[in-house]
Amino acid sequence: MTEAIIIDGKTFSSNLRNKIAEDVKSLKKEQGIVPGLAVVLVGENPASQIYVRKKEEMTKAVGMHSVSHHVKADISQQALLDLIDTLNRDPVIHGILVQLPLPKHIDTPTILAAIDPAKDVDGFHIINAGLLAIGKPALVPCTPAGCMMLLKDTLGNLQGKSALVIGRSTIVGRPMAQLLLAADCTVTIAHRYTSNLEALCRQADIVVAAVGIPHFVKGTWIKPGAVIIDVGINRIPAQDPEAKAAGKTKIVGDVDFEEAAKVASAITPVPGGVGPMTIACLLNNTIQAARALSDSTAPS
Ligand code: GUN
Repeated sequence: MTEAIIIDGKTFSSNLRNKIAEDVKSLKKEQGIVPGLAVVLVGENPASQIYVRKKEEMTKAVGMHSVSHHVKADISQQALLDLIDTLNRDPVIHGILVQLPLPKHIDTPTILAAIDPAKDVDGFHIINAGLLAIGKPALVPCTPAGCMMLLKDTLGNLQGKSALVIGRSTIVGRPMAQLLLAADCTVTIAHRYTSNLEALCRQADIVVAAVGIPHFVKGTWIKPGAVIIDVGINRIPAQDPEAKAAGKTKIVGDVDFEEAAKVASAITPVPGGVGPMTIACLLNNTIQAARALSDSTAPS
């Protein structure tokens, strides 16, 4: 029996995108600015193509200016840097996103470092990561930003909560930990070498799982009443024998949802939890960047 509140990221994200669409309208009416997002896709990675298409569709749906650069997988690093330089200088572009992963011959940190930090709507630039780490306003990576919105909506004030982040990636785990710290949580970051993970989990009021292993976090690890945020998106064979035999798959998270939902007070489902928040937060970052850039270029 499911006891926990199911955190509805789909509805939350839809409401957020509606609000962003209103903000886009007023920004245009009051300041003549249309926030512009440029998405750069290198090569033909099928998952990246799907993500990028969704980003482009949703950017247009909220009334923003959407620009796409789909370039060949064998583009030289210099040519990619030149493209980023052009986008950095383009006044109608307020946000730049280079879809990851990049082909092996391209050095990802060099590319990310070339993006103007003021247009870095992914929040991956070292300047934005540094600002977040010292607790200053920054463009924040979209998935952790979305997790924080869901957590604040569920719990209100997070002050004094014990939070466990499982995973230390630069895209999710590390910025997530910084955001929880900024919200006055007591934060633990667990990773592949953490020896007492179950015990740490049993003490946590908040668990954010971002490990990329299906059903990694067991229901028995959860502290009664904890809030569980599942960032995992894992494709596994379908459970139903007929569907499995037909080669069907399903998407599951990093948490054993059925078991954890019996113990937790609230939990995000997969799909429909954190996933839909990521693009909404990308659009939120783009509007934030557009406002900041227009303030910085306004005559004083
Ligand atoms: N690839 C997977 N997730 C992301 C993301 O959030 N941003 C970018 N740029 N690439 C990704």
